[in-house]
Amino acid sequence: MSKIATLEIDGKKYEFPITTGTENESAIDIKALRASTGGVTTIDPGYKNTGSCESAITFLNGEEGILRYRGYAIEELAEKADFLEVAYLLIFGELPTKEQLDKFHTDIKAQSHVDEDVKKIIDGFPKSAHPMGVLSSLTSALVAFNPSSVNVDSEEDMYNAIVRILGKFPVLTAWAYRKRVGLPLDYGDDNLGYVENFLKMMFKKPSGDYTTNKVVVDALDKLLILHADHEQNCSTSTVRMVGSSHAGLFVSISAGIAALWGPLHGGANQAVIEMLEGIKEDGGDTKKYMAKAKDKQDPFRLMGFGHRVYKNFDPRAKIIKKSADEVLGDLGVDDPVLDIAKGLEKEALEDSYFVDRKLYPNVDFYSGIIYRAMGIPVEMFTPMFALGRLPGWIAQWREMRLRKEPIGRPRQVYIGENLRSFKKIDNR
Ligand code: SDX
Repeated sequence: MSKIATLEIDGKKYEFPITTGTENESAIDIKALRASTGGVTTIDPGYKNTGSCESAITFLNGEEGILRYRGYAIEELAEKADFLEVAYLLIFGELPTKEQLDKFHTDIKAQSHVDEDVKKIIDGFPKSAHPMGVLSSLTSALVAFNPSSVNVDSEEDMYNAIVRILGKFPVLTAWAYRKRVGLPLDYGDDNLGYVENFLKMMFKKPSGDYTTNKVVVDALDKLLILHADHEQNCSTSTVRMVGSSHAGLFVSISAGIAALWGPLHGGANQAVIEMLEGIKEDGGDTKKYMAKAKDKQDPFRLMGFGHRVYKNFDPRAKIIKKSADEVLGDLGVDDPVLDIAKGLEKEALEDSYFVDRKLYPNVDFYSGIIYRAMGIPVEMFTPMFALGRLPGWIAQWREMRLRKEPIGRPRQVYIGENLRSFKKIDNR
C-alpha cells in the first residue's frame, strides 16, 4: 500500500502520495500541490530537500558514504573496470560485452576528427584564457560543425551524437591545453586506448615521440571513473535543465562545463592546490588556516572539504587518497603539499567545527595532487573533472530525453513591490 503525506493549510487537509525508490528513498510527490491548494508552492533554495527527477543511473547515500553507478559499487568499478567501460555502463545501463565495447570505441575513434576551422576559433583566444572557458565555448561551437547532433528523436541519432562528443571532447581538452602552452594542435593515435590517446594528445612534443607511462594511464583512468557521474549535482542538473528545452546535447554539455567551473563545484580541485600552495608558502601553518576556515568573518573556506550530500567520507576521496600515495611513490614524486593535505585532514577530523558539521574531504581534496604528479598543470584540473564527468552528463541527458521529462521551470515567491503607477521623470 503506498504511503501518503498529509498537509494541513488553514484547517484544510491535503494528501500527497509518497514515492519510494529501489533503495528505499522516499519523496513526497507534489506534482498536484499548486493545483489542489489554489496556488501554494514550495521554496527550497539550492534544492537541498527537493528532488528534480527519478533516475536509474547513480545511487549515492551521503550518510553511509555509498556511491554506485547502475548498481555497481564505485570501489569495484575503480578497481576492475576501465573508463570507457564505465562510460558505456552509465549511458546504456549495462556493462558492455567485449564486442559492444570494441564497437563503441571504434565508433568514438571514427568521430574524433575535429573540423580544422575549429582551430581558427581557438586562435582567437588569448593564451591566458582559462581552459574551462575555452572548452565550454568550443563544445558549444561544435554544433555549428555537427548540426545533426541536435535532433535526437531516434536512438540512432542519439547514439551518433553521443559517440561524436565522446570522440571530440578529449581532442578539444588537449587542444585547450596545448594552445595555452604554445604547442601545435594535433591528434593522437587511433591505435591507443581512450585515456592513453588523450595523454598523448596532451603531452606529445612536436619533435619527439610520446612514451606512455602505464602508472599515469592507469591513475588517470581511475580518476576519470571516480568523476564519471554523481546524480543530480550542480553541473548535471544544469545539463538536464538546458536539455529539457530540447536544446541539443552539445550545448547542454557546454552549459554543464560552465557550471562545473565554479570553485564551489568542480573548480574546487584547482582551488585546493592553490590553497595548499598558499599554506606551504606561508610556512605550512595548518592551524592558522583551520582557524580561518572556522572564522565566520573570514571568507576563507577549506577547499576540498564538505559536501551537499556526503555527511560521511566521500568514498571517492578515500580511493583518491590511497591512489595519491601509490602514484607519487611509483613516479618517485615527493610533493610537500600532500603532507599538508593529510595534516589538514587529520586536524579537521579532530575539530568539533568540522565534525559537528560533518565536513569531510570530498573528491576534490586529493585529486589535484595526483594530476600535478602526472605533469598536468593546475588550470587543467577542472577540465580533467569535465572529461571524467562527460559520460555522466550524457547518460543523464539521454535519460531525461528518453523519459520525455517536461521543460524545467521552477516557481518562486515574489517579494518585490506591489502594484504601483508609472511616474513621469519630472515627478520622481
Ligand atoms: C563537488 O554535489 C555534488 O555531487 C558535487 C560533486 C560532484 O561529484 O559533482 O561531488 C563535486 O562539487 C564537490 C564539492 C567541491 N567544493 C568544495 O570543496 C568547496 C568547499 N566546500 C563548500 O563550499 C561546501 O561544503 C559545499 C559547497 C561543497 C557544500 O555546501 P552546502 O551543502 O551548501 O553547505 P553549507 O555551505 O550550507 O555549509 C554548512 C556549514 C556552514 O556553516 P554554518 O553556517 O552551519 O555555521 O558548513 C560550513 C558552512 O560555513 N562549511 C564550511 C565548508 N563547507 C561548509 N566551512 C569551512 N570550510 C568548508 N569547506
